[in-house]
Amino acid sequence: MESSTKTVVPEKQKTACLVVGVFAGKALGSIAARIDSASGKTLSKLLAHGDLDAKAGSSLMLHHLPGVAAERVLLISYGKPEEFDEKAYRDALAAAGKKLAELKAEEAVVTLADVELEGRSAEWRARIAMQLLANAAYRYDAPRAKKDDEKRGVAKITLAFSGKPDAEIERGARQGSAVAAGMALARDLGNLPGNVCTPTYLADTAKKLGKESKKLRIEIFDQQGIEKLGMGAFLSVAHGSHEAPRFIVMKYAGAKNKKDKPIVLVGKGITFDSGGVSLKPGEAMDEMKFDMCGAAAVLGAFKTLAELDLPINVVGLIPATENMPGGAASKPGDVVTSMSGQTIEILNTDAEGRLILCDALSYAERFDPACVIDIATLTGACIIALGNHTSGLLANDDTLAQELMATGATADDRAWQLPLFDVYQDQLKSNFADMANIGGRAAGAITAACFLSRFAKAYKWAHLDIAGSAWKSGTEKGATGRPVPLLAQFLIERAQT
Ligand code: BES
Ligand code: MN
Ligand code: ZN
Repeated sequence: MESSTKTVVPEKQKTACLVVGVFAGKALGSIAARIDSASGKTLSKLLAHGDLDAKAGSSLMLHHLPGVAAERVLLISYGKPEEFDEKAYRDALAAAGKKLAELKAEEAVVTLADVELEGRSAEWRARIAMQLLANAAYRYDAPRAKKDDEKRGVAKITLAFSGKPDAEIERGARQGSAVAAGMALARDLGNLPGNVCTPTYLADTAKKLGKESKKLRIEIFDQQGIEKLGMGAFLSVAHGSHEAPRFIVMKYAGAKNKKDKPIVLVGKGITFDSGGVSLKPGEAMDEMKFDMCGAAAVLGAFKTLAELDLPINVVGLIPATENMPGGAASKPGDVVTSMSGQTIEILNTDAEGRLILCDALSYAERFDPACVIDIATLTGACIIALGNHTSGLLANDDTLAQELMATGATADDRAWQLPLFDVYQDQLKSNFADMANIGGRAAGAITAACFLSRFAKAYKWAHLDIAGSAWKSGTEKGATGRPVPLLAQFLIERAQT
């Protein structure tokens, strides 16, 4: 999505679609008022007749208003002024985004960010506006026999304001569209089928990203390389599959001081999770192609990072493999040795995410990180706890957890902390190894994080369980691009301090 900002002379603005916000039962704002008077009070009359609902996000498409240069004016309701909050603002943008995605036009001029919102800066309004509008324009290009030749959706959005947009607004808009670009990459990778988006494909995607920024270096380990690193837990998962595993290392050196401690992002890259020998039930098993959405989020965040050229050091680590029940697959009861030396009794081969992540967490130690954040579609239990709106968050450092929760709220991509109390660690006891890879039905999201915490002792660490938030099921089935907004916002804010 191409994006820019400008000052608008509303009635003279030439565009396929001018998007204008109005409050229910309140005098028109300056942009709407000028459209109104230029068009012989058309807006006042429509509103007086009740043609636009009072609910935030209601919309009305008007064509060829007299005295107005725009081909269409899309009226969007902000809702009642006394109820105007972040949600109403987002609802208004989401409604506009949906309409613009269906439009047969190349570009649109959106003035919805030209509104005051208590507690949020103009920069925030511009960022969220571009993020939501550009993300709404996302389309997955499915391979079909007959190409969809009806090209719909705008490719260029201009955020327009009654006054001159300052540097903060411009920066916010730039950030918002870079976040949306990262989300689009994450969504594409998630939506691609497992027979296309393999570990090798993820590695190739990383290499391609590496060419987009001089500050980004990519290193790929193949099966042999992973063996040399001693990643016995990761490899035990890969053994069940014919598809070759990859360990992807991305180093972005953007900080002025090369020696600044990096933030390390670790993404679960299971390109298909059959469950292994502890086979999953057949229903909705296709959705386990999304089990690499943690990896996709890391790649998406790196896309945003490179596009914004942030002055910060970041390392991305992606262990990538399928989880399949091949002849060489792990069996329940098998004991493997992780890179850290700790031994693991595999009681359920479907708890494979933690087995590949633990070795990546050990690898992270060598970077002496400022902090490590892993992102994983780790447990069904997290969906039971938090549903699909909120990612699970567990950490060995409460300050880091607080920071991530605040960041998620800012980025419209929320996470909520679950406890990592020591008492849960007992559930991982094994008679035959240092630990078991499962901790029973109770508190499944927490015991999974407890397992990871044993490999993350050397640094500040947080874990995002995105099992519920990374994709949607049903008729809207598809990847959401989360938590790219949260991660990107975290990097943006860390780059400022
Ligand atoms: N990838 C799954 C988690 C998952 C399941 C995410 C459903 C989204 C929807 C993970 O590898 C898994 O299978 N976890 C098991 C762990 C259990 C065996 C302890 C689970 O959650 O059932
Ligand atoms: Mn699994
Ligand atoms: Zn999995």
